[in-house]
Amino acid sequence: MALAADQDLVLHARNISRRYGAVTALADASLTLRRGEVMGLVGDNGAGKSTLLKVLSGAVIPDGGTIEVEGAPVDFRRPTDALAAGIETVYQDLALVDTMSAVQNVYLGREELSTNPFLKALNIVNDRGMRARSREVLAELGVGIQSVNVSVKGMSGGQRQCLAIARALLWGRSIVILDEPTAALGVRESQQVLDLIGRLREHGVSVILVSHNMQQLHTVADRVTVMRLGRSVAVRDIADVTAQDIVGLITGAIPADVPTPEDTETLVS
Ligand SMILES: Nc1ncnc2c1ncn2[C@@H]1O[C@H](COP(=O)(O)OP(=O)(O)OP(=O)(O)O)[C@@H](O)[C@H]1O
Ligand SMILES: [Mg+2]
Repeated sequence: MALAADQDLVLHARNISRRYGAVTALADASLTLRRGEVMGLVGDNGAGKSTLLKVLSGAVIPDGGTIEVEGAPVDFRRPTDALAAGIETVYQDLALVDTMSAVQNVYLGREELSTNPFLKALNIVNDRGMRARSREVLAELGVGIQSVNVSVKGMSGGQRQCLAIARALLWGRSIVILDEPTAALGVRESQQVLDLIGRLREHGVSVILVSHNMQQLHTVADRVTVMRLGRSVAVRDIADVTAQDIVGLITGAIPADVPTPEDTETLVS
């Protein structure tokens, strides 16, 4: 890892642990994220990826470990804490309200950010202003939605995913977390979401992307963090590894950077 680039970390999670009764979801997970990069997060089912993302988005409080955002320690107790720190999370099931229109969905949750002078101003703008701004952001992102007034209910999975990502940009988040955003999408829609991730990066937004699709990661990610049994076991520049290399690191066929006590420790899942 280049030292110069590491001075530009927007997020640094260290030694995060989380147990659920007898189940160790996270044993010792660390993750770094640089400004404007896409970090792929990979690992077998149950490796702890979603739990780590939930910790980073304030949805789950860890048992141990530290998180720094822009070099300053944070202590997330709830999702709004992470939002306030500039972290937007797009879950697979999408936090969009079906019966609301695209514009209403893009503006959902604005009250959380009313301390921002820009958004405070937006709070008092009329519907027309919101529609105009929504159109502007969606157009900037190349999201093809016929009308911003149309109900989200009639939208495809890809459009919904794009809308959720658009929210992140509109609210000026510096970090966007995506948990398997293309898992339920077709080829064309997946491509649209990947394009959007590329555009987030152009805007200097950093992205954490969980994906089981190695080809996708090679298209869109800069680095990849491999998780195994609740541990982050390797970090690689995507350009330095093949899909087989990553699979090998996931399964353990290729030795990890950190020792994994998987032979001695029994993890229930
Ligand atoms: N709320 C919970 N209660 C009990 N066990 C949990 C809970 N959340 C996660 N776990 C367990 O923690 C482990 C890690 O789960 P997690 O969802 O983080 O894995 P993952 O890497 O996201 O897997 P997948 O690729 O299948 O999404 C699993 O064994 C899971 O069953
Ligand atoms: Mg998961």
